[in-house]
Amino acid sequence: MKTELLRILESRRGEFVSGEELAENFGVTRAAVWKAIDSLRSSGHVIEAITNRGYSLVRTSDALTSEGIRVNLKPSTKISRVVCLEAADSTNNYAKRLAMNGAAHGTLVVADRQTSGRGRHGHTFESPAGTGLYMSLVLRPKVEAEKFQMITVAAAVAVCLAIDELCGGAKERAGIKWVNDVLIGGRKVTGILTEAVSSVESGEIESVITGIGVNVSTREFPAEFADTAGSIFGEGEYLFGRDELCARIADYVMDFAENLEAPEIIREYRTRSILSGKRITYMKNDVKSSGFVEGISENGGRVVVNASGEREILRSGEVFMIRRKVDED
Ligand code: BTN
Repeated sequence: MKTELLRILESRRGEFVSGEELAENFGVTRAAVWKAIDSLRSSGHVIEAITNRGYSLVRTSDALTSEGIRVNLKPSTKISRVVCLEAADSTNNYAKRLAMNGAAHGTLVVADRQTSGRGRHGHTFESPAGTGLYMSLVLRPKVEAEKFQMITVAAAVAVCLAIDELCGGAKERAGIKWVNDVLIGGRKVTGILTEAVSSVESGEIESVITGIGVNVSTREFPAEFADTAGSIFGEGEYLFGRDELCARIADYVMDFAENLEAPEIIREYRTRSILSGKRITYMKNDVKSSGFVEGISENGGRVVVNASGEREILRSGEVFMIRRKVDED
């Protein structure tokens, strides 16, 4: 009832909805409606109540709650389950455990903080409470293993679209540096870690966990990232709630996962690719090379012209590490 109640108030923002109408809608007493409103308020949702007029939603909570996330998912959402935690070791680990126990496609795990957040290449991902969004999706896409890398591309595009829409032009357009990093104003605000869960018996990939970490209003970063990391919101700024961002990203990822070949995904990636046209140094198969990034291939790889003038495609799985850009923008 709480989720539905919040959904009604959300869909009628700016209006007062009477307690009588709500009570009738749910087939409960007005006292029961009041109790549900009270409980929503305790979760941090700001709801105005005026005698003889009813209830009006001022803003949803900035606290991450499963009802706050559900209410922001679109009606046709493909998210099958929302698990919202105060803390997780890593939402990817948590989602992986659920997947190994049969969790369905579209299971979403979100935490307010992570105690052992993980980044790529064994790095840790700092995940303080209250300021970031740490989410993982269990996906069971019906695609061949080679197409799995498109999931990370789709997740990066999903993050960019969601941030840009919710910022409504208040921020610079979100860009994708390497496929796993989303940047705003030259600073990394999102990292993505996609991992496969394969069956020990068959060796086949049974599910994919896509983990997304967004610095929404994080102010402090480990010293090594102090010059490169950033947040969506500036100091004291509030543009939207984390639950809204989470729901919008999740809906985009789920829609893209239905059709990883949708031209829109690559089109968006190309227009947002920050490295295109730049020189980079990279490690491939333990060999350090440098080259010029020509663009993005049809299947989401980076087309690089290497120092010998040969064109090669770097896929995220193959490229061990982008060390640094040779000529910084
Ligand atoms: C990177 O930048 O190297 C990737 C960072 C990925 C962080 C997210 S936060 C949610 C999910 N859980 C994790 O432990 N990692 C990912």
